[in-house]
Amino acid sequence: EGIHPSAEAMLEAAGCTVETERGALSEEALCARVKGVHLLGIRSKSRVTARVLEAATDLYALGCFCIGTNQVDLAVANARGVPVFNAPFSNTRSVAELMIAEVVMLARHLGDRVREMHTGQWKKLATGSVEVRGKTLGIVGYGHIGSQVGVLAESMGMRVIFYDVATRLPMGNNRPVDSLEALLAEADFVTLHVPETPQTRGMMGPDQINRMKNGAYLLNASRGTVVDIDALALALSEGRVGGAAIDVFPEEPEANGPGFVTKLQGQRNVILTPHIGGSTAEAQASIGREVATSLVKFLDYGATTGAVNFPNLELAPSPGTHRIVNVHRNVPGVLRDINRIVSDVGANIHAQVLGTDAHIGYLVMDLERDVSAHVRTAMSALATDIRTRCIY
Ligand code: NAI
Repeated sequence: EGIHPSAEAMLEAAGCTVETERGALSEEALCARVKGVHLLGIRSKSRVTARVLEAATDLYALGCFCIGTNQVDLAVANARGVPVFNAPFSNTRSVAELMIAEVVMLARHLGDRVREMHTGQWKKLATGSVEVRGKTLGIVGYGHIGSQVGVLAESMGMRVIFYDVATRLPMGNNRPVDSLEALLAEADFVTLHVPETPQTRGMMGPDQINRMKNGAYLLNASRGTVVDIDALALALSEGRVGGAAIDVFPEEPEANGPGFVTKLQGQRNVILTPHIGGSTAEAQASIGREVATSLVKFLDYGATTGAVNFPNLELAPSPGTHRIVNVHRNVPGVLRDINRIVSDVGANIHAQVLGTDAHIGYLVMDLERDVSAHVRTAMSALATDIRTRCIY
């Protein structure tokens, strides 16, 4: 599905035979295509339904070379012992850079000046234009993106404050504040980097927008539901908010084309972009590398760190041992049965890690004697077994 070549190179270097398709396949075609496939890579347009997963009898793992995973039936993949990996943080830097550009654009009313010049209007103005140096940037949500924005903004000479529900280590001289209200009272620019949750839905509503400093600017490249667009449009038209940069919307079109409508169109000093915060060549290459790395680490070591539908665990390899990975139904007594199989053949368990969720247990086990083929066969025969693989 047009996955970046960086993924193919890594998978081939790890010994995989890689076959590619230019676009997404229909359910029918995908069902026929997945037979005999051990690792499947998709982007957002392929639908991996229960039917596809049932047809994929040899599938070890699934890589979504994108951010979202809602195109996959994650519960069925879990039940079939197939971990699903994605790349949620590959475009962090791309979003952070866009925010810095937009802070400067808002401070200089660049959106309006550019639009005027394209329609032949020469408007040389200094009114309302400011430098960003010495201004206060307030970051709401100081995770991967928020903290990067903080680092970059500080190097531009900005004062940086942030608010997060979790305790986060401040980067450089970035300073935490106790509440969203405290941040809004102090910030000249407010930038939102929170996830979409019930708590963040409408978190910048009429009251919060009113609490912003008079003429302050609002930036949102997180999720469209975080900002009340009606309240923002009103505050912009009344001049209470000095400008806004909005990359995400409560409702976004499925496909590119004309006809997009928002109340923010035509407003003074408003930069509107079509959810492109993370859309760069570097982010695509990085997504390719990140997901391919997860797939190879799962194939070679059974590591599931970052899997969205699976217990996350990783065990450092020990030289001279043999590794078995096992997915089983999460019912009492499975570990007892497995350990009995191992002790019956007189083998020592060098290391064993178990992670569980509501439905499955995932076990990685290193044995000191080469009895792994025998142990694997006996484990596969257990009634609770979903999948057992001897890695080395
Ligand atoms: P992250 O998970 O690393 O950071 C989110 C931070 O928000 C965490 O520190 C969390 O504790 C904090 N948080 C959660 N609820 C909060 C609340 N109610 N109040 C204050 N802080 C709260 O996420 P990351 O990678 O930094 O992404 C942030 C947002 O950016 C997400 O919504 C993501 O979907 C969006 N995004 C947008 C892109 C675009 O193209 N515009 C591209 C990539 C991500």
